[in-house]
Amino acid sequence: MNAPAYVKNPKLLAWVAEMAALCKPAKIHWCDGSEEEYNALCQQLVDAGTFKKLNPVKRPNSFLACSDPTDVARVEDRTYICSEKKENAGPTNNWVAPAEMRATLQPLFDGCMQGRTMYVIPFSMGPLGSHIAHVGIELSDSPYVAVSQKIMTRMGKAVYDVIGTDGPFVPCVHTVGAPLAAGQADVKWPCNKTKYIVHYPETREIWSYGSGYGGNALLGKKCFALRIASNMGRDQGWLAEHMLILGVTNPQGKKYHVAAAFPSACGKTNFSMLVPPAGFDGWKVTTIGDDIAWIKPHDDGKLYAINPEAGYFGVAPGTNFHTNPNCMASLDKNVIYTNVALTDDGDVWWEGMEKDTGKLPDHLIDWQGKDWTPQIAKETGAKAAHPNARFTVGATNNPALDPAWDDPAGVVIDAFIFGGRRSTTVPLVTEARNWTEGVYMAATMGSETTAAAAGQQGVVRRDPFAMLPFTGYNMSDYFQHWLDMGHKLAQSKAKLPSIYCVNWFRKGEDGKFVWPGYGENMRVLKWMIDRIEGNAQGAENVFGISPKYNELNWTGLDFTADQFKTVTHVDKAAWVEELKLHEELFTQLAYHLPAEMTATKAALEQRLAA
Ligand code: GTP
Ligand code: SPV
Ligand code: MN
Repeated sequence: MNAPAYVKNPKLLAWVAEMAALCKPAKIHWCDGSEEEYNALCQQLVDAGTFKKLNPVKRPNSFLACSDPTDVARVEDRTYICSEKKENAGPTNNWVAPAEMRATLQPLFDGCMQGRTMYVIPFSMGPLGSHIAHVGIELSDSPYVAVSQKIMTRMGKAVYDVIGTDGPFVPCVHTVGAPLAAGQADVKWPCNKTKYIVHYPETREIWSYGSGYGGNALLGKKCFALRIASNMGRDQGWLAEHMLILGVTNPQGKKYHVAAAFPSACGKTNFSMLVPPAGFDGWKVTTIGDDIAWIKPHDDGKLYAINPEAGYFGVAPGTNFHTNPNCMASLDKNVIYTNVALTDDGDVWWEGMEKDTGKLPDHLIDWQGKDWTPQIAKETGAKAAHPNARFTVGATNNPALDPAWDDPAGVVIDAFIFGGRRSTTVPLVTEARNWTEGVYMAATMGSETTAAAAGQQGVVRRDPFAMLPFTGYNMSDYFQHWLDMGHKLAQSKAKLPSIYCVNWFRKGEDGKFVWPGYGENMRVLKWMIDRIEGNAQGAENVFGISPKYNELNWTGLDFTADQFKTVTHVDKAAWVEELKLHEELFTQLAYHLPAEMTATKAALEQRLAA
């Protein structure tokens, strides 16, 4: 098995041997996480045709991978939480009994890595050795996964020092499910029509079959850091959340930390890298994380958060110097692009970049390898980049990176924000009057679906806490866990974080977004801080507290009181309909639904009827 001498954990060694015996790879490669290894694997991917090396003048040390057109997003209908009891997976997760799932997977994994190399990828989610961090080992037959994990996690042999001879680790097995017979030529993006993304919460194991893409394959991300970690958090009294974390510093130098949950492709990366607009001289926003937060309470009664990741796997389309200049600056070198278009001079392109250059490129090779011209796009509607095209880049490329992003102690959270993508009904911003009301807002959040997951797009579905695809146990128990955390924190003298609900996506009658969004979201963020400091009174409505027009700083933006009304007004009839959807959700989640949720809903209905 040729394990390096520094791997000293007998359980780990036995597990790798067992998996190798099952998957039958031609070789085993123990990743050490070095630069040399990264470069060699990238070269290997270029030689195999999976990677195209981009123009080294325009994008130094960067690559483009184009996936199989059937393997472009997370597959929620193939994702399973295999707890012993069905009730513990709950009504929002696919469930199969663990024994039955193991019996299904065993033959699929038997020989699944034939003709390929099994990479043993040691990774830490969170700063190595931080008491908030946890480690995992991913076994994968995809070198694309190995190099991606080098960017997305703290990957390398130092992880074995943390594990030692008997330390815990989360075992993660991944295969593209495309064994190669002797002499069989490989394809550029091997994968299998059959897909299984499987979690065993009790034994804390992850088994992934058939996809090489994103959250299906980079198992530290959604599988570990959200689905398995949410189970760890419930058992151990902390939170694993689909949240960005940002720092915001006012002109006096006082700093606040905010964690915000938006569903996939709804603006977390954008918000975490926000550049304050005109009228906000001296304000600064810095990024701690853009997708996942692990949040643990301390004895001082405060919540401390870390970003368990080390890089960003972000949505490319729509990103440009206007919407996210810090992100664009992060993408100038050392990036892996997936499913974007290739320009004739060896650079990358995606929809939205024309806003920077003022024109569409004359010719591209689209993400599927076909010719693309503005004419073709006009005639066929063909997108140059897949709507879920992504970049993979290290956090240290980000010019707005927070100095504390890597602090093992984490940062103190002052406020939580929850926000869905809603073209109607939900106002720009509302503050919950208390923790329970905030939990209710988060629990009943709805959002229009996006290309981040396979399936129908643009339909409103309930996405509690932006965690619908990621809570690894019964959703109502997860609500209860949030309520319990609040009750426990309330016993200390520390102030509980405020909770806000936002919606950047309300549309006018012309079908266009009314709120300018992006950097302008700073105006809403500042109002939240004013509220925390007691400097804004707000106005109470049926749901909570919302800003008066003159409480937002409008310097540098032409946004009239009428427009403000369009994005903030509460349409009673629409809310009567909306509450029916809350009712539907609560009916679905009836098992273990906290009484505080139904009581909050009843109070809301009363106020609405008054
Ligand atoms: P995941 O990585 O999938 O979890 O998503 P994310 O929440 O990090 O998404 P990201 O920030 O990449 O959001 C991308 C999408 O949100 C693009 O379609 C953007 O144009 C859109 N978006 C982000 N911020 C805003 C905003 O303030 N207003 C509007 N209208 N759209 C926004
Ligand atoms: C999301 O879909 O929320 C992502 C991308 O952050 S993926 O890692 O593919 O899940
Ligand atoms: Mn995400």
